[in-house]
Amino acid sequence: MSQDMQAVTIHQFGGAEVLKLESVARPEPGPDEVLIRVQAAGVNPIDYMTRNGVGVNRGWQEDQLPVVLGWDVSGIVEASNSEAFKPGDEVFTMPRFPAMAGAYAEYAAVPAAELAAKPASIDHPAAAGVPLVALTAWQALFDNGNLASGQTVLIHAAAGGVGHVAVQLAKWRGATVIGTASGRNQAFVLGLGADQFVDYTACEFDEVVKDVDAVFHTIPAELREKSWRTLNADGILLSITGPVPEEEIQAEGKRGTFVGVRPNGAQLGEIAGLIDDGTLRVEIDTVYPLADAAKAHQQVEARHARGKVVLRVAG
Ligand SMILES: NC(=O)c1ccc[n+]([C@@H]2O[C@H](COP(=O)([O-])OP(=O)(O)OC[C@H]3O[C@@H](n4cnc5c(N)ncnc54)[C@H](OP(=O)(O)O)[C@@H]3O)[C@@H](O)[C@H]2O)c1
Repeated sequence: MSQDMQAVTIHQFGGAEVLKLESVARPEPGPDEVLIRVQAAGVNPIDYMTRNGVGVNRGWQEDQLPVVLGWDVSGIVEASNSEAFKPGDEVFTMPRFPAMAGAYAEYAAVPAAELAAKPASIDHPAAAGVPLVALTAWQALFDNGNLASGQTVLIHAAAGGVGHVAVQLAKWRGATVIGTASGRNQAFVLGLGADQFVDYTACEFDEVVKDVDAVFHTIPAELREKSWRTLNADGILLSITGPVPEEEIQAEGKRGTFVGVRPNGAQLGEIAGLIDDGTLRVEIDTVYPLADAAKAHQQVEARHARGKVVLRVAG
């Protein structure tokens, strides 16, 4: 007989008010999966987009609800069907994306291949802020962009969840980094290691940034035209905010691609190592209790968080 747990669900699409803390059945781990006692769950823009019915679930009907939201998890292994992890192990993960993962809950069942040991040097709320944004930055800059030492990269929204990790990963790789944000984030972005800061509220970024090798386009798709203008002839546009149509790439005569993040336990393991050796730090803007998921969504939806917003589930 299944046991119950507390989780934040949606029974309809809509604003933050549709989030509901309620009792649901605890998931059962399948073959090669582990059951995690969730300690903290990260909040990402895709969470409120999915709540609105325009995230990973675009085109869903409301009869496919309810679902438990959330992808980023940091927690403790409760039960394991994998030789790689045992009960008591502290782990972090971004499982199943773009399928639903059920992170806003006391327990989550997760494929072992998508897990890594939690960085020992940070607590669960901080670790829960890492997986989705760090995997996105890693897969965009390294797997798709092949960013190399000596190259210059423009990183938009450099104070945000993805951006603040991307700045640090690009510096680690040996790149020169230009970061955009509003003026209040100048010291923060330069403190992450960026070589140059551009205040997007004070100037047009495409008038001051030229000839970069890569642009990490983490801002609305409508601004892509300006990002293209900052690239050199061999440059590459890495978009995570919308598909880049082939006709647009042809018309620009440069390289461009959309990057959709995917789970990857091995990459998370490397990322954990960079956190523990001091190369990478995660900035936590606010930690809310699970019961305040609506407040957390409202903050993320306002699009001005510095670093990450996280839900504390236990502890
Ligand atoms: N394709 C994928 O797999 C994937 C994965 C992750 C994220 N994403 C998408 O990538 C985007 C960024 O995600 P995120 O988690 O980093 O978001 P986020 O943390 O909510 O971003 C907030 C940051 O954006 C900055 N910002 C807002 N408008 C800006 C602008 N016009 N120029 C420069 N900075 C601006 C804000 O800085 P100020 O307060 O200084 O304005 C704030 O620090 C979202 O649209 C998300 O859905 C896609």
